[in-house]
Amino acid sequence: MKSELEKLKQEFEAVMETITDRAALEQAKNEFLGRKGRLKMLLEQVAKLAGEERKTIGQLANEVKEGLEAAYRYKEHALNEAHTSTQAEREWIDITEPGHAPEEGHLHLTSQAIEEITDIFSRVGFTSVRAPEIDWDYYVFESLNMPKDHPARDDWETFFVEAPEGKKGKMVLTPHTSNSQVRQMELVKPPIRMININRTYRRQIDITHIPMFHQFEGLMIDKGVAVIHLKGVLDYFARTFFGPDRRTRLRPHHFRFTEPSFEVDISCGVCGGDLSKNCRLCKSGWLELGGAGMVHPRVLEAGGLDPKEYSGFAFGWGVERTLMMREGIKIDDIRVLYKNDLRFVRQF
Ligand code: DAH
Repeated sequence: MKSELEKLKQEFEAVMETITDRAALEQAKNEFLGRKGRLKMLLEQVAKLAGEERKTIGQLANEVKEGLEAAYRYKEHALNEAHTSTQAEREWIDITEPGHAPEEGHLHLTSQAIEEITDIFSRVGFTSVRAPEIDWDYYVFESLNMPKDHPARDDWETFFVEAPEGKKGKMVLTPHTSNSQVRQMELVKPPIRMININRTYRRQIDITHIPMFHQFEGLMIDKGVAVIHLKGVLDYFARTFFGPDRRTRLRPHHFRFTEPSFEVDISCGVCGGDLSKNCRLCKSGWLELGGAGMVHPRVLEAGGLDPKEYSGFAFGWGVERTLMMREGIKIDDIRVLYKNDLRFVRQF
């Protein structure tokens, strides 16, 4: 048995010396190392030996097996090396080949819209400000003429923060950006022209609502500001952001913090106002952008201003909603914006 193993090893080494191509190598591999090869046959016999003999011969058999495999790998490597002949050829690199461009990200669709909206308003003198995203009840509700326990507050479906109450009431995740109104009046004297864009939160989710969304709030206060100025600014925005094809309308509405109050609608960008299309998004041909109105005298007073001297308008719209009504952006479910699906995000 011992000599047979040694003979096998010598034979294999001799064969390896004569081999000059892959086909021959493959053939030798099968003959010696294959599943039904000569080594396998011998190993089966070794397994049948008994006691001490099995141990010593087994050890030798293992050494032979490893030797054969090493000789095979050595030959294989040598053949590969021969294939790529010179060192210069092996190490050659094409320095003119274009590199891998690093992947470049871009702003999320919502962030792009925020930048654009900020820019549009800045061109007509509205300064971008940022009121807190978590604020006191006072700025969110009370100073806006919605006293404690007023049923109108239910409309806002607010998330309250579990934290001790302060002098200005509970802390809330702002359900709208209107908290910026009295804050801005406390900060600067008129003329005021501000735009506040921020995240807002409400307890609702369906194809047109998400619990976290964005609003932009506009406020203009000066002497002699009237509805016509509001209309002018809204029209300017609609033309600039949506293009001349989109129509807007003002509907009478009610908000506690404006008098008179309006709902601003724009014709739907998905169905174009065609009711026969049974649009999932608008159902009526019109989409509600948000509210607007003339700042209520009590709100001016809360901001330390005399309503006989000053007047102003305000509006508050959802960023995502505004975006979805835009030409060429046909999103019929608002939730897709925050699913983090790169196939969606990369389109914009
Ligand atoms: N804050 C209101 C909302 O979230 C929208 C709104 C209505 C804002 C009228 C205003 C306004 O500034 O004047 O539904």
